[in-house]
Amino acid sequence: MGKVEGIEIRNFGPLKDIVMGRTLSHQEGIPLGNLIAIIGPSGNGKSTIADVFGFIADCLDKDVETACDENNRGGYEKLISQGAVEPLSIEIYYREKSNAKPITYELKIDLDKDERPYVMEERLRQRVEKRGWPRSFLYLQNGKGYAFEGTDGGQDDEGNIDGHKVDVELTDTRHLGIVTLGAMKQYTRIEHFLSFLRSWYLCYFTPDSARMIQTAMPQPYLNRDGSNINNVAQYMYREDSKGFQKVLNDIQSKLPDIEKIEPLKLANGQMALRFKQCGFKEPFFSQKMSDGTLKLFAYYLLLHEKNPRQLVFIEEPENGLYHQYLTSLAGEMRQNVLKMANKQLFITTHSPFFVNALAPDDVWVLSKGDDGFSTIKRASDYNFVKDLAAEGVNLGDMWYSQYFG
Ligand SMILES: Nc1ncnc2c1ncn2[C@@H]1O[C@H](COP(=O)(O)OP(=O)(O)OP(=O)(O)O)[C@@H](O)[C@H]1O
Ligand SMILES: [Mg+2]
Repeated sequence: MGKVEGIEIRNFGPLKDIVMGRTLSHQEGIPLGNLIAIIGPSGNGKSTIADVFGFIADCLDKDVETACDENNRGGYEKLISQGAVEPLSIEIYYREKSNAKPITYELKIDLDKDERPYVMEERLRQRVEKRGWPRSFLYLQNGKGYAFEGTDGGQDDEGNIDGHKVDVELTDTRHLGIVTLGAMKQYTRIEHFLSFLRSWYLCYFTPDSARMIQTAMPQPYLNRDGSNINNVAQYMYREDSKGFQKVLNDIQSKLPDIEKIEPLKLANGQMALRFKQCGFKEPFFSQKMSDGTLKLFAYYLLLHEKNPRQLVFIEEPENGLYHQYLTSLAGEMRQNVLKMANKQLFITTHSPFFVNALAPDDVWVLSKGDDGFSTIKRASDYNFVKDLAAEGVNLGDMWYSQYFG
């Protein structure tokens, strides 16, 4: 499906110019790994990085103008970095498979003459030969340009063409070209990229949503707020009841005081989860479970998805959880994503306990410059951190002791 090797963000709130991993113009960068943890003091841009992913998802679902207004972004004028003269821009450098040539997606959003945000430029590029500059297979400026059909070909900056080029003009420059063209089968690479973006899971889990009464409808994936947690459990149970019971046993061994979790099919077809708790004769249903228990339960369901989503973003997974579970939760999350070539988990965190299970290359540190804008670097780029980690010092302990961050 794909793996993000790097991301470049310009003029998005406090992120005036940041690069993570390897991108087209930063080929010297080390590609992002499977786990990317972002740390840094309050106000330094962690949630803003999460929101870049949310913003892209909103641009896909709606249009760029609505995306600028959604999720408390406050419209383009509030979203763009203060004082910026250039447009807001995002670049994603990704590889569909480990042996595929990397693809660069560039998106620039600006205000039109009516002061409304629109897609100023959108471009997808991929290298055709082993070496050499990549060729664009989608290039739209102000809604006009070209796209290439099929699985290869493109146009380079000198105008050399390879493959089947089609002139394109969009009727609405507030919509992304990848959404319009990715709906057509002949634009194979655009379609693949679009389905990769659509498969992202941005977690905004709230225990109260998970407590809501849920209709009986098996669903393979947890939704943003986790309000379908029972439906996901029902799906897992239906697909493979023995396997699901194993997952439950595994989860239950990590939850404090829980002896057993059992799926229960109600007479109306609904699925409920029964939690048998030490010391009590009667079981509790999920509505009565604590916030932290529900959260851990949701995270473990997420780790056991049958066809896992390739990119998951969780903000501050430690919130509401007892500090002693955090290192093992982080360790399990890390092992889970490392098992698969293309699975990536992005998290933001304030917890040294969580960071204790991570490696220096996993962790990205945000700090603010004198101009008020954020900069970012890997924990492994700080002096001594790699050496101390090699000697067995935990990364979270180093962070807490101010070796970095
Ligand atoms: N348009 C903008 N231009 C420049 N900076 C901005 C802009 N909008 C917001 N900011 C800055 O971004 C900060 C918010 O950053 P963000 O919410 O990403 O921080 P965080 O690292 O998630 O903090 P916390 O740890 O408290 O959650 C604001 O405090 C403000 O300083
Ligand atoms: Mg935040």
